[in-house]
Amino acid sequence: MNKAVRKSLIVANWKMNLNTHQASLLLHKLSEKVISHTDTQVVLCPNIMTLQPLSLQVNHRQFKLGAQNFYWRDEGAYTGEVSATMLRGLVDYVLVGHSERRNVFGEHDRDIRHKVQAAYRNGLKPILCVGETAHEKAENETHHVLHDQVVSGLLNITSGEVEDLTIAYEPVWAIGSGEAVQPADLRDAVKSIRKQIHALYGEKASKKVRVLYGGSVNSQNCESFLAVEGVDGLLVGGASLKVDEFASIVEKAHNSRKQKG
Ligand code: PGA
Repeated sequence: MNKAVRKSLIVANWKMNLNTHQASLLLHKLSEKVISHTDTQVVLCPNIMTLQPLSLQVNHRQFKLGAQNFYWRDEGAYTGEVSATMLRGLVDYVLVGHSERRNVFGEHDRDIRHKVQAAYRNGLKPILCVGETAHEKAENETHHVLHDQVVSGLLNITSGEVEDLTIAYEPVWAIGSGEAVQPADLRDAVKSIRKQIHALYGEKASKKVRVLYGGSVNSQNCESFLAVEGVDGLLVGGASLKVDEFASIVEKAHNSRKQKG
């Protein structure tokens, strides 16, 4: 695997936490603690309301911004929604298909594929989240689930577009549970995802796509995931709200990147 072409990516998913003042304070503290490295991109995903003020405050060379959610149509009578068109210029990345969107808000494969397309249409980089539930894991269905979520999420996406894609492998049972994946299982899952991209789009795309791990990541366990072949970074929920934890994760990602070469 040619690592050199892929920058590491550490994504902070703040979820529905922090009001504008608290988010601004966290950003301020992170900007003092998190050291920028050219080989490691850090992306912050605050709630939609705080994106605008944070985009004025943030040092764009230190952090990129991402949106946690959006609706896939560009405009129209969709009360309460925000479109990718409206996020243009404000964020570089968008999360798509997070398991909380799938499971709590009932998003289906069709919505997710429309969102991936809307992201590309509006010049935003999608981070497509995939992963099996505890039940699917128990039934040995992980590879089928990953296959189906990748194939369906990327319908009508070109190989050129896929080169800008990030896939986050987030087993549903690992999110917020304190129980993270075993490195050997992570290696199998990442291999399976890249194999799928290879089958759909060929070798170049399969080497360019970035694959992250997410689910109960903290500063103590992050190195074990980052050491796995084919893993390019992390999607961090709870631990991204703690300044020292998150700064330490970013630093360890940079060091592991140097070791992997
Ligand atoms: P967690 O969340 O790190 O709190 O498990 C990860 C995520 O949902 O992206």
